[in-house]
Amino acid sequence: MNLNWNEYAHLFDWELQAINSHQTGDYKAWLELAKQIGGEVLELGCGSGRITAKLAQHDIDISGLDSSPVLIKMMKSKYPQLSQDKIFLGDMMTYKFPKSYDLIFYSYSTFQYLLTLEDQIQALQHIRKYLNPQGYIAFDICPYTCDLPAEQVKVLLYKKFNQALKKEVSMFTSHQVDRINQITTWHDTYVLEDNQGNRDVLHHKLSLKGIRGDFLALLLQYCGFELINSYGDFDLNEVSHSSDNIIYLAKKVD
Ligand SMILES: C[S@@+](CC[C@H](N)C(=O)[O-])C[C@H]1O[C@@H](n2cnc3c(N)ncnc32)[C@H](O)[C@@H]1O
Repeated sequence: MNLNWNEYAHLFDWELQAINSHQTGDYKAWLELAKQIGGEVLELGCGSGRITAKLAQHDIDISGLDSSPVLIKMMKSKYPQLSQDKIFLGDMMTYKFPKSYDLIFYSYSTFQYLLTLEDQIQALQHIRKYLNPQGYIAFDICPYTCDLPAEQVKVLLYKKFNQALKKEVSMFTSHQVDRINQITTWHDTYVLEDNQGNRDVLHHKLSLKGIRGDFLALLLQYCGFELINSYGDFDLNEVSHSSDNIIYLAKKVD
C-alpha cells in the first residue's frame, strides 16, 4: 500500500488545480474511450475521484479503486452521488473485484508507479481476470519520464497561497534518474506557513518507471493483450514528437 499518498492527499486536488491545471482535461480522453467502448468501466488509482466522478456525471457506469484510505474517504465525501459499492479501497495488484468490466484504465501515469517488470506483469495478469471477453485496458504514459537530467538539486518550484488551508505553500523539488532501471524519483518538500509564521513541513516521494511504446507492446502481448491504438493527447489525436502524454489502448485476447 502506498501510504505516502495519505499525507499528501489534502494538497493533491489543490495542487492539480492551482499548478498542474494542464492535466485536468485528461478526463476527456477517458470519457471518449468509455463512450466508444460502452459497458462498465473501472478506474485504477482513482485518487479522490475527480475522473471517476466526472465520467459518472456523463452517465458512464464507472467504479474506482485506490490504495489510499484518505483519498478514498475524500472521494466518498466529495461525491456522495457516487454509489458507495462502486468505490473500492485496496491494491490494484491484488484486489478481488466483485465483477468484471468492459474497460479498465489507469489515469495520470498510474501504471508508471509499477517499478519492476515483475510488478507490471503481476498487475496486468491480475487485472485481466476482471475484464469481460474482448474487454479493453488503457493507460496514459509520460514518454519523457527518464529523459530528464540525471540529477536535479532541490529548487523552489512554486510558492502559492492555499485559500482552503489559509497557508502559503512553498514547494521544493529535486530528482534523480536511475538510467539503468529507467526510474525517476522526485523528492518533494512542501512548507506550509500561516500568517503567524507557524510552519508545517511535509515530504512526498514519487518514483515513476519510464516506459517505451515498443516495450509496452511486447509486455501487453506477454500478458494476454493486443495493443490496438495509441493517442498523442487527451483529445485522442495522433502521437507526435511533441506528445507529452501517450494514451495506449489494448484489447484482451484469448
Ligand atoms: C497520480 S495519482 C492519480 C489520482 C487520480 N487518478 C487523478 O488523476 O486525480 C495516483 C494514484 O494512484 C494510487 N495508487 C498508487 N499505487 C496504487 C496501488 N498499488 N493500488 C491502488 N492505487 C494506487 C495513489 O494512491 C494515487 O491516488
